[in-house]
Order: sequence, then C-alpha cells, then structure tokens
Amino acid sequence: MINYADRLEKLPPYIFADLERLQVDLTRKGVDLISLGIGDPDLPPPGVLVDSLKKALTEPGSSNYSSSAGEDYFRKSVAGWYEKRFGVTLDPQTEVCALIGSKEGLANVGRTLLNPGDKALLPDPGYPVYAQGSTILSDATPVVFNLTGEGFQPDLSNVRTDDRTKLLFLNYPSNPTGAVVDGDTLEQAVGFCRRHHLVLCYDNAYSEVCFGSYRSPSILQINDAMECAVEFNSCSKMFNMTGYRVGFAVGNKKVIAGLKKVKSQIDSGVPKFVQRAAASTLDGYFESDLSAERNKNNETLKKRLDILSQGLREIGIETKPPKATFYLWANIGAEGATFVKELISVGVVATPGVAFGANGRDYVRFSVTEPTRRVEEAVERIRKIPVKRVPPNSFQEA
Ligand SMILES: Cc1ncc(COP(=O)(O)O)c(C=O)c1O
Repeated sequence: MINYADRLEKLPPYIFADLERLQVDLTRKGVDLISLGIGDPDLPPPGVLVDSLKKALTEPGSSNYSSSAGEDYFRKSVAGWYEKRFGVTLDPQTEVCALIGSKEGLANVGRTLLNPGDKALLPDPGYPVYAQGSTILSDATPVVFNLTGEGFQPDLSNVRTDDRTKLLFLNYPSNPTGAVVDGDTLEQAVGFCRRHHLVLCYDNAYSEVCFGSYRSPSILQINDAMECAVEFNSCSKMFNMTGYRVGFAVGNKKVIAGLKKVKSQIDSGVPKFVQRAAASTLDGYFESDLSAERNKNNETLKKRLDILSQGLREIGIETKPPKATFYLWANIGAEGATFVKELISVGVVATPGVAFGANGRDYVRFSVTEPTRRVEEAVERIRKIPVKRVPPNSFQEA
C-alpha cells in the first residue's frame, strides 16, 4: 500500500488545477467557455522578447544546464532594472537569485526559513501558494491576517506573533483583490517585521500591470527593508510569458543565500535561452518601442476591466476596476461559489473567492485574460443569469 506523507494530506485541493480540469471536460463536450478563471494573459509577449528568444535558442551552450541561481548576465539585468525602475541598488552576486517563476521562489522560501511547527503570517484573501506550497509543505503552520474593509489593507497592530513566527507574506498589487498599497503601509510592514524578527516576503508579481499614473512600489524602496525583506517578482505578467517560467528574488543577502542553497539541491535553473531573452527585454525596458507595447498592453487590460465592471454593475453587482492587476474582485453579497456555478451554466468561468481564503467567501474573482470581444460576450452571457443581486455595502476602494 502506498501512503502519502502527512504534509500532502494536509493540502487542500489546488483550486486552479480543478478549474482547469473542469474547463477541459466541458470544452471536450463542446461547451463554448469564456475563461475568466485563471490569470494567464492571452496577449502576446513583446516582439523584442520573442526575437531574442529565437536567437538565444541557437547560441552555443543554450541546451546545457544553467545554474539554479541564474546566469550572471541575467542577475545583472535584474539589478540594472531595479536601479532604473525603483532606484534600488542590488549586488547581482549576492542580492539576486533567478527563479523558475516566482511561484517556485515563494514555495522554496518556506523550505529556506521554516522549521516544522514554525508559523508564517499570510493575507486572507491571498495567493494560495503562501499557505500551501510554502508553509504547509514545510511542515509549518499558516496563520492568516485579514484583508477586509476599505482597500484590503493589513492592520498589523492586531497581528500576534510568538517565537515560532518566522515569516510574513505580503502582496501588492494584490491577487485576488487588485488592491494597491501606499508607502506608509509598507513602512509599517517593515517596522513590524524588524521588531518581531520576521522575514518579510513581498510578492510584487503584478508590479508592471498598472493603469493610468499609478506605479507599484518595491518593498526595497523602504528604509531598512534590506535588513528583513526579500521581494519576489516575475517576467510572467510583466511580459506575458507565464509558460516560459522565469522570475527573480531580490533583497536580503542571507535569505537569498539560503534560497540559492535550497534551489541548488532541487533544480538546475531556468533554461539559458529564456534567461537571455528575459535579460535583454529587461535591459530594453525603458526604450520607446517596448514602453509603447507595454502601455498598449495595459490599456487593453484596463479597457476590459472597465467593460466587465460596468456590465456587473448593470446587474446589481457593484465593483470598481482596480488600479493594477488584471483581476476584478466582485462582492456578490452571497456565496461566491454558488454564483460561479451559475456563471458556468452560461458558459463563463470565474474563480470563487473562497479559493483565496475564508474572507473571499462572498466574492468572485474575474481575470480579464480573454480577448476584449470575449469579455464583452461574457457580460452578455452574465446578463442572462436571472437573479439580480445588490450586495450590502459592497463598494470597495481598489
Ligand atoms: C500574486 C502572485 N504571485 C506569484 C504568482 C506566480 O507567478 P509566476 O510563477 O508565473 O511568476 C502569481 C501567479 O498567478 C500570483 O498571482
């Protein structure tokens, strides 16, 4: 008889894998589904990235192993980008580590810092990997703090720690709420982590999916953050390259060294041609062609969010398009999971908010990662759902 390790039994199902299976099943049966469930951009990667990828594929050595910490040129490009984008100076050797997507790094930071029985603080609602892939799979205990109320900001003054509490995860722009953060909140988070001797794991995966004049900050812009913080970012959403798998962790030297040590025992790095393409795209980030492409990308996402938000509002679901991310977090005023079933009955897939924690129970997350005309069609389909809802006090500042 084969028994799984106890830690595997403790894992709840990964809702996105379930959603993917459901979509495949229904599509096989011929149902035309509009997929607003998983946050995987339909828009193409920048032209410069694709050109560079093709070229790098035939470079000598491109089929060989990379290093799990990343190639020197890639780490230098990440450091150069941080300097230009955030004014943050990083040593590419000691303060940057390549990741096979930021999800990998967020999971492996648990193995780096948590002993069995330790505790990690994480946001509810929040990206499930903090609790599951990182904490539970390190035999540690997730302890949630609430992101409720206006703006989905943390109130760390209410958060208790003890000598087993080791980590705090924070994510802005936020998946799933789309909320953004201000400098004061980040300062408080750094102060809190320093006072309580916690490592602050800051997830900035959506830093470049921002609209209008809003620019997402880096935690490393906050004074003394380097003493306690490590930031996870990714080319996935930045360059619409989720499947190529490349991200990076930057920040506190000791955490980065530990993460590299864990990774050296587990993986053999991001393919070199992917690192080469990501590096040259980061290098050219502020050049006019790429800037124009990125702006157009974000304008398209913003337009879709506006269309969907307006459509939901017309059937009594009050939502406000966010300043960042491609998610619309809609308060249904009733079980979000029930509404998701109604959505599926009209051929629209969305994610029940409870997938992101108990505080998401009354919400549904829509990801506008289908072509604009399909988002418009989704609105038409949603209008056919008979029950109109007017959620109580639902207007949330994004
Ligand atoms: C908040 C957040 N962090 C990290 C990730 C991981 O992205 P990747 O592993 O593609 O970098 C995601 C993916 O959806 C996310 O939503």
